[in-house]
Amino acid sequence: MHNSQMTTELLPNDLPAEMLQPTVDALGRPLRDLRISLLDQCNFRCPYCMPEAEFHSEYEFLKRQQRLTYDEIIRVAAAAIDLGVSKIRLTGGEPLLDKNIGSLIERIAALPGVQDLALTTNGMLLAGAAEKLAHAGLHRVTVSLDSLDKDVFRSMSGGRGDLDKVLSGIKAAESAGLGPIKINVVVQKGVNDHTLLDLLEYFRGSGNIVRLIEFMDVGNCNGWRMNQVVPSRDLLEKIGQRWPLRPVGKNYAGEVARRYEYVDGAGEIGFISSVTEPFCGDCSRARLSADGMLYTCLFANQGTDLREPLRNGADDDELRDILSSIWLQRADRYSELRTPELAEHHVLKKVEMYRIGG
Ligand code: GTP
Ligand code: 5AD
Ligand code: SF4
Ligand code: SF4
Repeated sequence: MHNSQMTTELLPNDLPAEMLQPTVDALGRPLRDLRISLLDQCNFRCPYCMPEAEFHSEYEFLKRQQRLTYDEIIRVAAAAIDLGVSKIRLTGGEPLLDKNIGSLIERIAALPGVQDLALTTNGMLLAGAAEKLAHAGLHRVTVSLDSLDKDVFRSMSGGRGDLDKVLSGIKAAESAGLGPIKINVVVQKGVNDHTLLDLLEYFRGSGNIVRLIEFMDVGNCNGWRMNQVVPSRDLLEKIGQRWPLRPVGKNYAGEVARRYEYVDGAGEIGFISSVTEPFCGDCSRARLSADGMLYTCLFANQGTDLREPLRNGADDDELRDILSSIWLQRADRYSELRTPELAEHHVLKKVEMYRIGG
């Protein structure tokens, strides 16, 4: 096709083709991935994310009117898609606490340009929701599950998790066609690292993919210390001694997990090593909090308020311009710049994980 024809041709979402040029940030990284936090509440109190001492019964979570409505979320998602987003992930807090989530999923799944629509959950409410989620158009789920040792799991969920419920949630999600399911495991030295081989054994051969995440210094309330991190390379060696592993290539540019497969054919595992092997170089993720702040890094110390323009009459072009100017200026690469000393002293005030869902 002729060039001049290409630029005037209208695409399904009525944008001229030149709008399809991906918006790249100051370090040349495109915007591909939007992670939407639906609410800041959670039915767990994982000490590394929402320690009970701080998130007690008096804690004031966002009120309904402070949270974006579904219409507002859809407007942001559509604007982000116009700028190049094709992957959308729903997170929380715990997104399944939002009982109407099915209707939002239907609307996001129907947006032209969404190639991948996923959800991250702690799995407690998944057994009862999986069918409905799949029916609404969700493509896949990721379940956070730190241990199969009942006591370790319970304490890592802040005394709130029920292991059997999470495991039946995973089964229900598989039956509903939401697999292969990714199982996210945050590894903390001396807390759950001694239970990892059992967890891997359970999921070997299931078709689901366990991903071991280095404990990160997200936010300011989890008391992160470098000596609580188990470097992925140590885990790789330990796991490889039990079940030989070999590396597999990336599924897509910007994938956060380094993938390995069991040589004996029992499936795949992944390592997410933001502390010892940062992957900012091709980070293409933006994060929207439940109250409409847009963050361009998991460790951001400030975001941009989109709720205000949304509620003050900004039209779709204006919204797209706001998003595009945020992304064009973006130069975040926190994990590459982190030093353990600075991170341990919480020098920067960072956004908390439960507000942007990982
Ligand atoms: P796939 O699309 O299935 O590859 O998943 P994903 O890796 O994009 O998403 P997921 O939410 O499962 O990410 C797993 C974990 O990796 C998150 O919970 C975070 O702990 C961490 N993580 C994800 N994105 C980033 C990132 O941009 N920076 C850092 N430092 N960590 C990240
Ligand atoms: N370090 C690494 N991963 C974390 N998560 C939450 N807090 C941390 C942290 N400090 C993970 C959760 C979940 C996802 C949303 O982020 O376990 O898998
Ligand atoms: Fe809830 Fe996930 Fe945070 Fe745990 S890590 S408190 S499940 S949002
Ligand atoms: Fe992206 Fe920030 Fe994570 Fe680096 S630290 S990969 S820039 S979210």
